[in-house]
Amino acid sequence: MATSRAFTLFAFTLSLLTVASTVSGHNITQILSDTPEYSSFNNYLSQTKLADEINSRTTITVLVLNNGAMSSLAGKHPLSVVKNALSLLVLLDYYDPLKLHQLSKGTTLTTTLYQTTGHALGNLGFVNVTDLKGGKVGFGSAAPGSKLDSSYTKSVKQIPYNISVLEINAPIIAPGILTAPAPSSAGVSNITGLLEKAGCKTFANLLVSSGVIKTFESTVEKGLTVFAPSDEAFKARGVPDLTNLTQAEVVSLLEYHALAEYKPKGSLKTNKDAISTLATNGAGKYDLTTSTSGDEVILHTGVGPSRLADTVVDETPVVIFTVDNVLLPAELFGKSSSPAPAPEPVSAPTPTPAKSPSPVEAPSPTAASPPAPPVDESSPEGAPSDSPTSSENSNAKNAAFHVNAPALFTALVTIAATSLLL
Ligand SMILES: *[C@@H]1O[C@H](CO)[C@@H](O)[C@H](O)[C@H]1NC(C)=O
Ligand SMILES: *[C@@H]1O[C@H](CO)[C@@H](O)[C@H](O)[C@H]1NC(C)=O
Ligand SMILES: *[C@@H]1O[C@H](CO)[C@@H](O)[C@H](O)[C@H]1NC(C)=O
Ligand SMILES: *[C@@H]1O[C@H](CO)[C@@H](O)[C@H](O)[C@H]1NC(C)=O
Ligand SMILES: *[C@@H]1O[C@H](CO)[C@@H](O)[C@H](O)[C@H]1NC(C)=O
Repeated sequence: MATSRAFTLFAFTLSLLTVASTVSGHNITQILSDTPEYSSFNNYLSQTKLADEINSRTTITVLVLNNGAMSSLAGKHPLSVVKNALSLLVLLDYYDPLKLHQLSKGTTLTTTLYQTTGHALGNLGFVNVTDLKGGKVGFGSAAPGSKLDSSYTKSVKQIPYNISVLEINAPIIAPGILTAPAPSSAGVSNITGLLEKAGCKTFANLLVSSGVIKTFESTVEKGLTVFAPSDEAFKARGVPDLTNLTQAEVVSLLEYHALAEYKPKGSLKTNKDAISTLATNGAGKYDLTTSTSGDEVILHTGVGPSRLADTVVDETPVVIFTVDNVLLPAELFGKSSSPAPAPEPVSAPTPTPAKSPSPVEAPSPTAASPPAPPVDESSPEGAPSDSPTSSENSNAKNAAFHVNAPALFTALVTIAATSLLL
């Protein structure tokens, strides 16, 4: 008896440890992959990136549809519409089968993921859950006059208080949800118009004057994520004077603010890898990393962080965010945070040894590939770090280049030496 209790305690402790070691929590794709009859639903969760959103949350309930029940949605509507319909099936509360049958007064309205999108007017983002007579549980839109057209059929999986997966027999249809226009006709085609309305006029103007808007538009069909700095962001202290950049550098800077894939907030929250941007021209170049702080997503460029502010539009496969700061790629702006102890460029005037120590000291974390073409072309003109304002500043920047790209550094030392000679 005692030993068995001790064993139970041991097993319990062990299971706690196991839980603690898998902090990442649930994976809805994994949960549903065991059941072929949910393959269509599961596939749409991945395509719409709802899976990431679900995985980034706890205390939720996913109401799944089998392939038969999905057939009224699948392939019949634009992806953005299917996403909204499926968002209505993700309840932001934990309902296991027991709780479904213990609703106080037998009925409740519960918030869904659709409510968080900003598309839902009134209570369209709420679902009515009602314990009907005879043990049946009905689901319907909370919009007045809606019927409880879907019913609970069975439990699929519960991870207590984290995620409950329940099967229902039909989609929950909120009024108007299926008739929303597709993004192309809803004005996502007019990216600059959306940006201007969102307070990102400077960014919009730069996209047009540089022609980068064409690059953005060309990827819309297969996926586009835009991080648009607000007009305030361009006025902030420390933002380099863009007129000092070459045309090629401006293009890289602007392309750095977009991804050729659909990555809504939930996907950024669960992201663990470096993300390639439209400016990426080789492994590890012009990429971004992410971190989270509560519900916030922070983007990191290697130069500085920027908070993801608002979602301007999220219409699968296009999502446009505003960000608090201009994203400054390390490839163009180095790491200005690295302090004084980088004296090499100061001693650079005596030119001969300037080149030899730098490649030796830089252990080249990435391959010492040739510098990116845009930057290379720019060197005779006004390179960004060539700023005549203060030599200390330019030294600090050069030091950062030194760390990031030895070949580039060599080029910049040459520039620095040249400018000192002038
Ligand atoms: C439940 O969610 C928490 C985070 O809120 C997580 O740390 C834990 O690992 C999850 N448990 C399971 C069994 O997935
Ligand atoms: C979730 O599971 C799927 C299928 O097993 C896998 O491909 C995917 O990488 C997993 N996602 C995460 C975030 O672990
Ligand atoms: C849910 O819908 C049923 C049927 O229309 C209705 O009687 C009930 O009051 C609704 N529940 C709530 C909490 O509004
Ligand atoms: C895009 O939207 C802006 C602002 O709403 C408008 O001025 C412009 O004419 C639109 N452009 C196109 C091509 O529809
Ligand atoms: C940009 O260039 C101008 C003139 O060449 C110079 O006066 C200014 O300080 C530069 N600004 C920056 C931020 O480098």
